[in-house]
Amino acid sequence: MTVCRYTVISICDISQQTTDHVAAKFRIPHKTTNPSEVINNPDVDVVFILAADEFHESLCISALKAGKRVFIEKPISLSIPSTKRIIASEKAAGGAKVFVGYMRRYAPSFTAAFLREVATIPKILYARSRDIVGPNDHFVNQSGTSPLKFFDFPSASGEEQKRNLEILVGEAFPGVSPTERDVKYCRFLGSLGSHDLSLMREALGFPESVAGVTANEPFYTAMFNYRNKSGEPFSVTYESGIDDVPRFDASLAVYGEKKQVSIVYDTPFVKGLPIKVKIDELNEHGEAVSREVLSSFEDAYTVELKDMYTCFALGETIKTSAEDACLDLELFHLMYKQLVKQEGR
Ligand SMILES: NC(=O)c1ccc[n+]([C@@H]2O[C@H](COP(=O)([O-])OP(=O)(O)OC[C@H]3O[C@@H](n4cnc5c(N)ncnc54)[C@H](O)[C@@H]3O)[C@@H](O)[C@H]2O)c1
Repeated sequence: MTVCRYTVISICDISQQTTDHVAAKFRIPHKTTNPSEVINNPDVDVVFILAADEFHESLCISALKAGKRVFIEKPISLSIPSTKRIIASEKAAGGAKVFVGYMRRYAPSFTAAFLREVATIPKILYARSRDIVGPNDHFVNQSGTSPLKFFDFPSASGEEQKRNLEILVGEAFPGVSPTERDVKYCRFLGSLGSHDLSLMREALGFPESVAGVTANEPFYTAMFNYRNKSGEPFSVTYESGIDDVPRFDASLAVYGEKKQVSIVYDTPFVKGLPIKVKIDELNEHGEAVSREVLSSFEDAYTVELKDMYTCFALGETIKTSAEDACLDLELFHLMYKQLVKQEGR
């Protein structure tokens, strides 16, 4: 039996053509270009904030003030102060109201097989987070969803977005004048970086420190210092970038002495591509053994939204809460600080 957990009753986009198209395509009864019509609609229980990062804070706080629960796409925002303003607003609204959309962390192969297999490594010696991908549009355009993009934005919205970005990047790089490259770094960590670094945090915890970073647009790297269960140090390498090659090379690999566990993500925009866990180990006979585990074909976005239902409707704890997302901003902050220090600014 299929349980209907959500009904979309109202859609807003600042582009009139986008609202017209989406409302017709998905038979949504109400459409508007004014966000407050969704936010203040008494029949709306949950507001989904899927707009550009620069609008996340203001839309989220308005929705919380209107007494709504909120699904907000990652990154929750682009600076720690901005995220703290959201958290303060959530607290004022009674708490446990914000769910951040880190879908990779809800993939069954991550929550079941990957975490279970990593837990059997007695001593982690090294880990590597890689996310080197081609442009989203390449995958989206071949996904069979026939997406359309419209650009009929009100002229003031571009200015507002620019102003918001300046404020957020200024907060992310306190005490220095951010360069164009800093802005790109901030946007990159918010977009692709937040997926990988939040996954790394859930699997391995928060790093002790950041040993070094590089930010050579469009590729970014970092070396994190960690300590394993027995107190010995190990490193985690992060490497990521978006170029024009249409491939999706995203994985988190954890290495022990006799076992390597990797989770491999394909593009999320083509539905049904499996997320698999690969295990390579040395067995008791001195033989090399490789296994692949697929915990479920269920799409990570679907599991994420089912989980949100259990949080909002049934009172379960939100894993990807606003406080959790703030830890990503804290990690980005350490990375920005390291870059500034390396450059002697
Ligand atoms: N979880 C994922 O896999 C995933 C994938 C892509 C994007 N995202 C996140 O989703 C968000 C949107 O990304 P995108 O690539 O679709 O961005 P986008 O800029 O292409 O689209 C945003 C949409 O929001 C509309 N919009 C902008 N400002 C608005 C406002 N103030 N009120 C209402 N509508 C507004 C735009 O017209 C556009 O239709 C970002 O935060 C991004 O990080 C998440």
